[in-house]
Amino acid sequence: MKKLKIADGIHMLTMNVDDILFEGMWEIANGVTLNSYIVQGDKTAIIDGVIGWDGVPETLYKNLEEIGVEPKNINYLIVNHMEPDHSGWISNFRKIKEDFTIICTDKAAKMVASFYGEDNIRIVKEGDTLDLGKGKVLSFHPVPNVHWPDTMYTYERDTKTLFSCDMFGAFGRMGDHCFDDDLTPEEVDFFEFEGIRYYSNVMTTFTPSLRKAIEKAKTLEINIIAPGHGPVYRKNPQKIIDDYTRFSRYAEGAGKNEVAILWGSMYGMTAKAVDYVEGILKREGVKYNKIEMPQESDSEMVATVFKSAGVIIAAPTYEYKLFPPVAAALNELGRKRITGKLAFRFGSYGWSGGAEKELNEIMERNKMNWDFIESVEFEGAPKEEDLIKIEARVLELIKKMREKVLEP
Ligand SMILES: Cc1cc2nc3c(=O)[nH]c(=O)nc-3n(C[C@H](O)[C@H](O)[C@H](O)COP(=O)(O)O)c2cc1C
Ligand SMILES: [Fe+2]
Ligand SMILES: [Fe+2]
Repeated sequence: MKKLKIADGIHMLTMNVDDILFEGMWEIANGVTLNSYIVQGDKTAIIDGVIGWDGVPETLYKNLEEIGVEPKNINYLIVNHMEPDHSGWISNFRKIKEDFTIICTDKAAKMVASFYGEDNIRIVKEGDTLDLGKGKVLSFHPVPNVHWPDTMYTYERDTKTLFSCDMFGAFGRMGDHCFDDDLTPEEVDFFEFEGIRYYSNVMTTFTPSLRKAIEKAKTLEINIIAPGHGPVYRKNPQKIIDDYTRFSRYAEGAGKNEVAILWGSMYGMTAKAVDYVEGILKREGVKYNKIEMPQESDSEMVATVFKSAGVIIAAPTYEYKLFPPVAAALNELGRKRITGKLAFRFGSYGWSGGAEKELNEIMERNKMNWDFIESVEFEGAPKEEDLIKIEARVLELIKKMREKVLEP
């Protein structure tokens, strides 16, 4: 666990977590941070007491003491979001202190009671404030369905700091650099992709609500954005606001100038055509990423397709349907409501085909509204004439992709 001073009277405690499936399902290759914030006036508040979730409150208490906070003197627990990655500390804290007040929205209050059995709760609404003394005044701003219905921003007026919880967060463990102005160019790129991974894996289903939260952030004068996961933005908080605005468009079909090849093959027939397509993309100077299912994690698959302006789906027929690992991947993208992607599919079959039918069913059922270039299906190994067709359609995809490209 690391402690950092964000501003006078405001500290961050942050911990890297590596060995979990996030939300019980996402295999996050580069880990995640859990960030807590402590604001000290005459009274002390802790925002998103995440740490202790793993049962090590002692480490937390020691760290608090090192920044001059006696854990027993914490007056307020501010729960921006009830998901246990942000609130897991409540039960541990209860063991050492009797009288503290939890501050949260009405929707969170119901959950605080049902998850932790707590009832000393002050429910806050848009614009309510809490004066901690010594000039530190917090205000509260609900941003419903930024992940869960209960979520809110907490804003500190004196330092103009937005504690944004899941909003503006990123996956990826932090080393020594936790502020945007400390990050090396490589770390900036790392956190951009980890931001995309986070947005696409966890947040993208709620894109309409995230857009409202972006608008709400714009109504506040912000010097610092301090999220619940990932780096703190103090030099250029506008960057992460702009990034999230762009990600919200990726959710609806825009993307980087890149192609995602989402593919799977049982005996290498479809794979032969994938090799051929790679040759075309290289020749045309188009950046691409190959995602082979089921070998690749869903986390990487969703993030890669999400950020790409063009998608090539390569998969054969299996038991009269689409090769199941690729069908499962597309279903996952549908559940995440990743819509409007420009796509092209090809694949091998043995006798009857059937993959194409299921592909269309997945698109329909999930209302994905992807824009497809006509598919190419071939019997057995791809023949010269199949490859010629595939090449023409890949070139068509590359041309049409330009309309979808949205770069920083
Ligand atoms: C388990 C299994 C199920 C299959 N089911 C079908 C099918 O229902 N209809 C069909 O036309 N071909 C079917 N095939 C044949 C494959 O589509 C064919 O072998 C194709 O070339 C596989 O491409 P791949 O080598 O890229 O996996 C099946 C093959 C396997 C191994
Ligand atoms: Fe969350
Ligand atoms: Fe979270």
